[in-house]
Amino acid sequence: MSINSCGFFTIALVSSITGALLLLLAQKLGCSIRQRRTKAKASGEAPSGGSQNQIDGVNEYGRQLTDRQIRKNEHRQFVGGLWDEIGAQQLDFLKRYGLKSDHLLLDVGCGCLRGGIPCIRYLEAGNYFGLDINASLIKAGQIEIEREGLTGKRPNLMVNDKFEFSRFGRTFNYAIALSVFTHLPMNHVIRCLVEIRKALSPGGRFFATFFEAPSSAHLERVTHMPGDIQTNYDSDPYHYSIEECRMMARAAGVQVSLIGEWGHPRGQKMLSFEVGDVPSS
Ligand SMILES: C[S@@+](CC[C@H](N)C(=O)[O-])C[C@H]1O[C@@H](n2cnc3c(N)ncnc32)[C@H](O)[C@@H]1O
Repeated sequence: MSINSCGFFTIALVSSITGALLLLLAQKLGCSIRQRRTKAKASGEAPSGGSQNQIDGVNEYGRQLTDRQIRKNEHRQFVGGLWDEIGAQQLDFLKRYGLKSDHLLLDVGCGCLRGGIPCIRYLEAGNYFGLDINASLIKAGQIEIEREGLTGKRPNLMVNDKFEFSRFGRTFNYAIALSVFTHLPMNHVIRCLVEIRKALSPGGRFFATFFEAPSSAHLERVTHMPGDIQTNYDSDPYHYSIEECRMMARAAGVQVSLIGEWGHPRGQKMLSFEVGDVPSS
């Protein structure tokens, strides 16, 4: 009995010590698992199985191209094709409006550098800054840079889904968003403009293309010429009236003026944004 009792006691003692140790271990493990979850959330990682990209459902640029697709140059079509024509047109436009090679240029929604490549070639080393939401397009852009022998120009590229231009740590003489607002709803455009307000150097200008609607809250589709592109009020591709553009600029605390027609092959018009008073003409 005593042996049994002793034996039971010993077993009970051993099992209770083991239990306590197991409990401690489990608590420790539980704690470290929670800590890892918290860390992942803080760094902006999406929970597994959830949406990876806040642009999903807004436009198609949440889709990541595979390395094979990039090798086949599919990224050029993904950003709209007309690679040489629209690329050269962006640089020509910026030069016409005063871009010099020693200026700092911010390319908003730079994609795989259709306009970026001619601009990097023109600008002094280190003066080109491109931001895009799509990591695979930035990767394709890096391959385009190497192909063109422009690595020595030290372009700065960033993947970011909140237009956080301040992360570059610089302010810019010029910024451009070509075929970007055409894919964004108003709240995203306003976020971009709020960040642009902080990113421009004194006297700096931001140019953005858009599809023009004939009136505000224009719910019907609009067909744009040349190019025969159909745009929508509340789905991609988006159209805006000039009054809606003014409203978005007002909300963001910037001034906007309409440049309008600038020779875009798909009928996109040009806007100019500035911080401070806009010149009367
Ligand atoms: C039609 S492409 C134009 C790319 C480039 N500007 C050009 O002219 O080739 C639209 C680009 O906008 C980017 N984009 C869309 N939504 C964005 C967002 N919220 N933030 C940053 N980039 C975005 C896409 O990933 C894509 O690269």
